[in-house]
Amino acid sequence: MSTEKILVTSALPYANGPIHLGHLSGAYLPADIYVRYQRLKGRDILFIGGSDEHGVPITISADKEHVSPKVIIDRYHELNKKAFEQFGMSFDIYSRTSLPIHHETSKEFFLEFYNRGILNKTKSLQFYDEKAKMFLPDRYVEGTCPNCGAEGARSDECENCGALYDPNSLKDPKSKITGQTPVLKETSHWFFPLGKYQEKLEKYVDEMNKKYGWKDNVLQYCRGWFKSGLQDRAVTRDLDWGIKVPVEGAEGKVLYVWFDAVLGYISATKELSIQLGKKDLWREYWQGKDTKYVAFIGKDNVVFHCIVFPAMLMAWNEGDKEKYILPQNVPANEFLNFEGKKFSKSRNWGIDVIDFLKLFPADSLRYALVSNLPETRDSDFQWKEFQARNNSELADILGNFINRTLTFVHKHFEGKVPQKVKLESIDEEMLKLIASYPAKVSALLERYKIKDSVQEVMNLARAANKYFNDSEPWKTVKADKEKCAATLYVSLQTIYTLAELLEPVIPFASGKIFKMLNAEKTLWDKCGEENLPAGHILNKPDILFVKIEDEVIEKQINSLGKAPGEEEKEDDSISIDDFLKAQLKVAKVISAENIPKSEKLLKLKVDLGNEERQIIAGIAKSYTPADILGKNVVIVANLKPAKLMGLESRGMVLAVETKDGKLNVLNVDDSVEKGARVR
Ligand code: 2FM
Ligand code: ZN
Repeated sequence: MSTEKILVTSALPYANGPIHLGHLSGAYLPADIYVRYQRLKGRDILFIGGSDEHGVPITISADKEHVSPKVIIDRYHELNKKAFEQFGMSFDIYSRTSLPIHHETSKEFFLEFYNRGILNKTKSLQFYDEKAKMFLPDRYVEGTCPNCGAEGARSDECENCGALYDPNSLKDPKSKITGQTPVLKETSHWFFPLGKYQEKLEKYVDEMNKKYGWKDNVLQYCRGWFKSGLQDRAVTRDLDWGIKVPVEGAEGKVLYVWFDAVLGYISATKELSIQLGKKDLWREYWQGKDTKYVAFIGKDNVVFHCIVFPAMLMAWNEGDKEKYILPQNVPANEFLNFEGKKFSKSRNWGIDVIDFLKLFPADSLRYALVSNLPETRDSDFQWKEFQARNNSELADILGNFINRTLTFVHKHFEGKVPQKVKLESIDEEMLKLIASYPAKVSALLERYKIKDSVQEVMNLARAANKYFNDSEPWKTVKADKEKCAATLYVSLQTIYTLAELLEPVIPFASGKIFKMLNAEKTLWDKCGEENLPAGHILNKPDILFVKIEDEVIEKQINSLGKAPGEEEKEDDSISIDDFLKAQLKVAKVISAENIPKSEKLLKLKVDLGNEERQIIAGIAKSYTPADILGKNVVIVANLKPAKLMGLESRGMVLAVETKDGKLNVLNVDDSVEKGARVR
């Protein structure tokens, strides 16, 4: 049962918006941990990702901004690629479905099915917007539900009462593009006969589950679909953004986005092969009998990965071309909520990955997310919990153990791994414990119990702190130096083991630890051995995790649900005392002149009643010297003196800027005394 190659894919996110923490918990972080672990095991593995750049979600975003879909996908492909990099995703490729190689691959699949007569062409009635001259995808039509009367119902299904109906029965339909009433017009589409594959699919899911143990949540979704009976599915759409249907009589039609998206995994692997200069490498993975293919996704994608994609591959494999492998496991996760609610861009609920990483380190996020993965049911991200995971676990348990050990070795053992002359049972036990860890953690990771695996490793860090405390090296360093040496020797081996076991989870910190140890990682199965020989020179310890202050977390909590900038406005408020610090006074302009070589500045002399002063004012574009002369203006009298164009200026004249950019100097009439305070 040896599997020589592993292929891992993570769902291709739509390139129509920034990814948020929920995406990471579903399909990305678990996949990355799994892949990094398999690489440490020495396995031959490819990790494929990329952007899903077709379909209605993209065109809707483009319409909203009045730009072309291309503008949207270019923007978000780059943005998400960058966010994934900063988060530490170790994709072998992050491709995109707008590439020619992907279009070719998708067309090849369509034509294979078409030519073999697998697809059925069927006529149906579809809403058509006569003003926009286009067929309207489901999400572009809204009306009143024929069942419950709810407004805003979609063309064929009501989110309010769950009813499914024929588009004919939707009441008062309106096109979301023009607001006009659309007409029903006949159109033809090609259908994939999913129903025909039901039996084969049930057998496939059953067999995979028996052999490889599928997750219960995934099996339940599949069984639900099987129970309601699989329906044939249209694989084309009337839309002008996407992959053109490559047959005659299909003008204005593109492949349905889900038909092409799943094939994106294959085309991305082809693209990678070309980049590596081994054009046919992809075949060794996708068409090799010995490949284990694991598809990481979120629960909303189960039907496409456990039913639609396998059926497409089965259909292909019934022909006479090279055969493809099917997913061996699809460890889909449930959803992550955010402070008790669903992520929502419009309600400002949640945080995008790219913004999060401007504030906090990627490893802190990775650790907090993995500790709370929605592996069996939906889970919830909470700011306070994030802070606690960082401060009480990463900093206090892991960071502290590493720091105290290394500091001690530098102080008492010249920064070198001490000799183990005398090991006592407590030391032997600790060495046994670390030796047992690689296999223990492997067993969990191989079964996709990612959350448990990480908790198990943190238990080792806890045990290490206890071992250090119980051994009391600060006492033995004076009383029994050989015993002390043994404690530090064992503690250093433990740090090494932790650094490797945690590499998949907190890769940035792991790299730092290896640097402090002045060592390289080894194969996973060897990381519980004594990898640091006595005498090995260590580097100086460095801070691994910085604690996150309460105020920083409070600020995030306060900004939830508010528009950007809204909470800063509150912070902007000043007290009356703050305001009174500015001495605003009335002053009469008693002389005014232009300043040579300056278009903006006027040199003014003003009278404050008991003193005269010079002010250089930036009002020359709106006032000639004659305009301003004799006016009673308002100045900031206690502004620090400054020099403008080499001339001293003591104070500032207040003015309002009008819409067209002109300045309107504040002035009061002659009844006001010079020097009077404005407040
Ligand atoms: O749900 C989504 O965001 C889809 N774009 C996922 C596609 S996964 C695969 F098929 F590409
Ligand atoms: Zn309804």
